[in-house]
Amino acid sequence: MRILIGKRIEEVDSVEFENLIKGYKSLIIDIGTGEGEFVYKKAKQDKDAMFIGIDTSVDSMQQYSLKSAKKPEKGGLKNVVYMVANADNLPDDLLCKADKIFINLPWGSLRDGIIKGEHSFLNSIRKIAKENASLEIYISYCNLYEKQEIESRSLPTLTDSYLCNELKAIYKRYGINITQVSVLNNEDLKKIETKWAKKLGYGKKRDVFYMNCKIQK
Ligand SMILES: C[S@@+](CC[C@H](N)C(=O)[O-])C[C@H]1O[C@@H](n2cnc3c(N)ncnc32)[C@H](O)[C@@H]1O
Repeated sequence: MRILIGKRIEEVDSVEFENLIKGYKSLIIDIGTGEGEFVYKKAKQDKDAMFIGIDTSVDSMQQYSLKSAKKPEKGGLKNVVYMVANADNLPDDLLCKADKIFINLPWGSLRDGIIKGEHSFLNSIRKIAKENASLEIYISYCNLYEKQEIESRSLPTLTDSYLCNELKAIYKRYGINITQVSVLNNEDLKKIETKWAKKLGYGKKRDVFYMNCKIQK
């Protein structure tokens, strides 16, 4: 697997990866982490857990990867790692390792995989999850602001009913049980510590859908 350390990408084998995550009480993964602020801040608050931020974009993750690689007195952290990988094909070394998975404001192929319930995405999530792992997703798009994107990517209309019925049935086939769906607003978004949560939270009025899932294998 490819791990970003500072600005350098290192190829890490299974043994090295096991060493990296051993001794921690839990493993928490943020997929489509972007800049990686979310996992960095969580890692700072909870030193007993190991956090992994995953994204296809190396450039996005560099700022927090550099920060976490510094000495502890300069903000460096041992319990956060940034991984270059595609959500549709997560490394086998993550097999049954994740206690919690977060996906905050996905876009591009990650959003499409989630909202269309694509096999490659759901299979990948199921693969990396431990029994009873949780999956939390915050997702937002709407016809008013993202009409062209919705049409060009053939995205379903994002409604409570779509998530609670059609998507729930697809996820269930993979052992991913959607247990809660809530509609949040800009104020709720502002409380999530990511770049896009702030950007959208302080932007135009919009609904954000939150899904909480339990994974049974
Ligand atoms: C709108 S940004 C959100 C970033 C961050 N979670 C936040 O809230 O600030 C969406 C992120 O998803 C990543 N992404 C898109 N498709 C992906 C995929 N298939 N696998 C992993 N990451 C993906 C993008 O590179 C981008 O960083």
